[in-house]
Amino acid sequence: PTSDARAGDVGETTVIAHRGASAYAPENTLASIDKAAQLGFSWVENDVQRTKDGELVVIHDDSLKRTTNVEQVFPGRAPWKVKDFTAAEIKRLDAGSWYSPAYTGTRVPTLKDYMRRIEHNHEKLLLEIKNPELYPGIEQQTLKLLGNEGWLDQKHLRRLIVQSFSADSIRTVHNLRPAITTAYLGSPTVTKLHEYARFTDLVNPSYAMLSMGYVSAVHSFDGPHGRPLRVFAWTVNDAATARRVAGYGVDGIITNKPDMVRTALRSN
Ligand code: G3P
Ligand code: CA
Repeated sequence: PTSDARAGDVGETTVIAHRGASAYAPENTLASIDKAAQLGFSWVENDVQRTKDGELVVIHDDSLKRTTNVEQVFPGRAPWKVKDFTAAEIKRLDAGSWYSPAYTGTRVPTLKDYMRRIEHNHEKLLLEIKNPELYPGIEQQTLKLLGNEGWLDQKHLRRLIVQSFSADSIRTVHNLRPAITTAYLGSPTVTKLHEYARFTDLVNPSYAMLSMGYVSAVHSFDGPHGRPLRVFAWTVNDAATARRVAGYGVDGIITNKPDMVRTALRSN
C-alpha cells in the first residue's frame, strides 16, 4: 500500500475482512476488527440487527445461539432470537469463548461501540443491514446512528458502504441519503441490473455465481453517482479462488482471511 487510503488493497483489488478478520478472531466483535487493523487491512464487513428494546447490535445470525453462550445463560429461551433479547441481556453474553478460550469475555458489540472502534482504528466499513424484514425502520435508525457518530460527513462517507441482500432496504438507504455508497448483495440478471443501477453503486455476488462475462456486464452500467458499478465478491477463503475472481476483474474480495488473499494476489 502506498498510503493509508489504500491499506489492504492489492493492485486495483480491495480486500475486505469479512465480519472482521474472522478466521483469526471471533466474528463481528471488536477483537475481529482490531485483528484486521493489525494485519494491515482497513476495510471490514459487519452485520447489523436490532434487540428487543431497539438497540442496534453487530451479529450475523438472527439467533444468538451459534456465536454466544446464550444457551447456558438463558436456557429456557430457545430459539434465542436477537430480536427477543434486550441489549442488557445480550451484554451479559460471552461472544468469544465459542471461538477460543483465549477470547472469553468478548461481547456482542453495539453498533455505536463498534463505530467508535472503527474510527479509533482508522478503518473503513462495509455495513450490512441483516434480515431487514425482521426490523421495520432499521434503515432510518442505522442512518441516524451513523449521523450521530459523525459518519455521514464527506470525509467519512468515503469510508462507508451500506449493503443488504434486500433490494428494498438498499433502495430505502439510497432514497434517504443519496450520498451514501450502496451495495446490493446478490447477482441480478442483466435485465434487472438496469433497474438496480438507479440505487446501488456495487453489486456483490457470491463468488460461486461469478464469471468474467457477468463482471463485465455489471461494469457496463453506471450507478446512481454516474460511475460504473463495482463488484465485490464474497466469501473467498482460498488462494485459487482469490486468483480466479481477481482474474475476472472484480473490484474487491470479501474474505475471512485477508492476509491469505493479499499473498495470493501478490504472487499472481
Ligand atoms: O459481505 C458479504 C457476505 O457477508 C454475505 O453473506 O451470510 O456472510 O452475511 P453473509
Ligand atoms: Ca454479511
